[in-house]
Parts: sequence; structure tokens; C-alpha cells
Amino acid sequence: MSMTPLSSTRSTVKKGFLALGISFLSGCEFANAPQSFIAPEGQVARLQSDLFMLSVWLLSAILVVVTALLVYALWRYRDRGDDKMPYQNPGDVRFEVVWTVIPVLIIIFLAVPTVRATYHLASLPAGADPVEVKVTGYQYWWKFEYPDLGIVTANELHIPANRHVNFKLTSADVIHSFWVPRLAGKIDVNPGQKTGLWWVADRPGVYYGQCAEYCGTSHANMRMRVIVHTEDDFNAWVDSMVAARQPAVAAATDNAIQESDILAQGRRLFTEGACAACHTLHDAGATGNIGPDLNNFGQRQTLAAGVYPNTEENLRRWIKDPPEMKPGVLMPRSTFSDDEIEAVSKYLLSLK
Ligand code: CUA
Repeated sequence: MSMTPLSSTRSTVKKGFLALGISFLSGCEFANAPQSFIAPEGQVARLQSDLFMLSVWLLSAILVVVTALLVYALWRYRDRGDDKMPYQNPGDVRFEVVWTVIPVLIIIFLAVPTVRATYHLASLPAGADPVEVKVTGYQYWWKFEYPDLGIVTANELHIPANRHVNFKLTSADVIHSFWVPRLAGKIDVNPGQKTGLWWVADRPGVYYGQCAEYCGTSHANMRMRVIVHTEDDFNAWVDSMVAARQPAVAAATDNAIQESDILAQGRRLFTEGACAACHTLHDAGATGNIGPDLNNFGQRQTLAAGVYPNTEENLRRWIKDPPEMKPGVLMPRSTFSDDEIEAVSKYLLSLK
């Protein structure tokens, strides 16, 4: 057997330290990343992150102590070339007690706050006045319903800051996992079963989420955004969403549309074409229930479950050939001409 030359061993060690350094640096970057769970922005995420960090610090301390003892023992009892057997003490009761009791104490130290947090998070705190949201996972997008407010939307969840949000979650097809790391830990959504989750977001902002359970070809493209508003802004958003369902607003849109032939054409194409079979859109009298609800679509920041910015260029590309932009998507390629696609895109983006 050939021995590894010492210089090559040294270079391997150097590379190892370099890799370690890079991982630490990327760790710093990770802490500020948009989906970093160690940068919590809500009390539930903070509680969970604190529990994680408690384990990290405690286990790091154990690593240091055990390594120091090991290094000491290796040095203290090294081979001195005298062939003498070191002192043997099998079955020493004092040692047996020490290394049984210490791990038990460590486990109790970790278990008490963990079990307490688990019970705390299992149900909404008494006296909370939550926004209720029903979440349904689909291949590959999220439906958000506000049963008390009569609102349905997709992929972009709007909530107020500093108020409990209470989720009931389920899936329409396969198992997905609902995860917005800076607001709370993940929870699976299962077909035919309801799970629950609550959180409170600290302050307004946009928080990124992601399906965290492999669910098919576009699992990695099953994203979401949580848009946290001030209470006033949230109420304004609710009003705009409720208004989008009122006939009065549809009439007002009628007037606007009479001024613009291309928007009227877009609406007619939406109603008469295949779109209405799958999508709900009050303004176009469409009540399909297979794809995302498109009321106030022009307000959305993104397309295709958070994968593309909601621009006219992307929307036209999307309507023409969705599978080209998102593999595995259930929405089929369109039979519209390019002019028709332009009209439908302009119409959808006009809905605000
Ligand atoms: Cu849905 Cu992964």
C-alpha cells in the first residue's frame, strides 16, 4: 500500500480549512437570506428559532468539552515506549453515575422548553382576534381563502402586522408543505385532512415562502409571498378585494372598458375562451374552480406561484405556453393568436 505523501495531506487539510471558512461566510449570508429561519420576523418563528439556537449553543459547548477531554486523554496516556499497561478501572460506579446523569440532565434541559413550546403552538392563544385563512395546496400553487371576508386569492397572502393569523390547511391533490421561514416553521398539508397553524408577523414587509415537501415536477416552483400590511393598508386591500366582487364595480369597469376596445376584446376572449372553465373572475362572469382565482389579478406582484414578475411580457409568454415557463403545470398551451393573447394580458393586468 502506498502512503499519502505528507505534503499532499497538508494540502488536503488546507483545502478542508478553506471549505470550512467558506461555509462559515456563506452561513453569515444565509442568516440574512429572505427565507432564513434564523432571522425571525414574528413571535412564532422567534420561539422556534430560539429553541434551535438553544440546542446549537448547548451542543457546541458539549463538543468543546468532549474534544478537550479527548485531546487531554490522548496526550496524557500517549505511548511512552515502556510497554506498560495503563491503569484499568472497569465498572467504576462513580463514572457510571456521572455519565448517565449528565446526559439525562441535558435532555431534560432541552425537553422542557421544547414540550412547553409545542403545547403553546398547538392552539391559538385565548383572547386572540385572528384573521382566519384557509390554505389549499395544489400542484403547483397555493389558494388562500378568507372565509369571514369572502375573499379568495392565490400565491400572495395579505395579512395585517401584529395580529394573529389562524390557518386551516389542506391539499387538493398530493402532500405539500406550507413554509414561510421568517414567520413560522413548516407544516404539511395533506389531501382529505385539515392541519392547523397560527402566527403573528412583527411588521409590514414581504416574506417569501416555499412548498417544502416534494410534490412533483414543479415542486421547486411552488412559491408564495406573504405581504404584511399595517392594519389600515390591510383593510384597504380587503375593501378592494371585496369590491372586485360587487356588481357596482363591474358596471364601473364596463364604462372603462367601453373606452378601450382591446380590454373589451380581452374580457370577451376570457369569457368565451377556455379561461373561464378553470378560473374565477367576477368581472368576466367566470366561475371556474380548477385554477387560481383571478379577481384583482393586476394587483399581483408575481405570476405562476411567485416564479415570475407579473409583467405584460411575462403574462403573454405564460398564456401562450405555460409548460415552457413552469414544467408540469396543469394549464395547457393557449390556442389564442398573438393579438388575442395581447388583449387578454392587457385586460387581466387592468384588473386592480
Ligand atoms: Cu407542493 Cu412541493
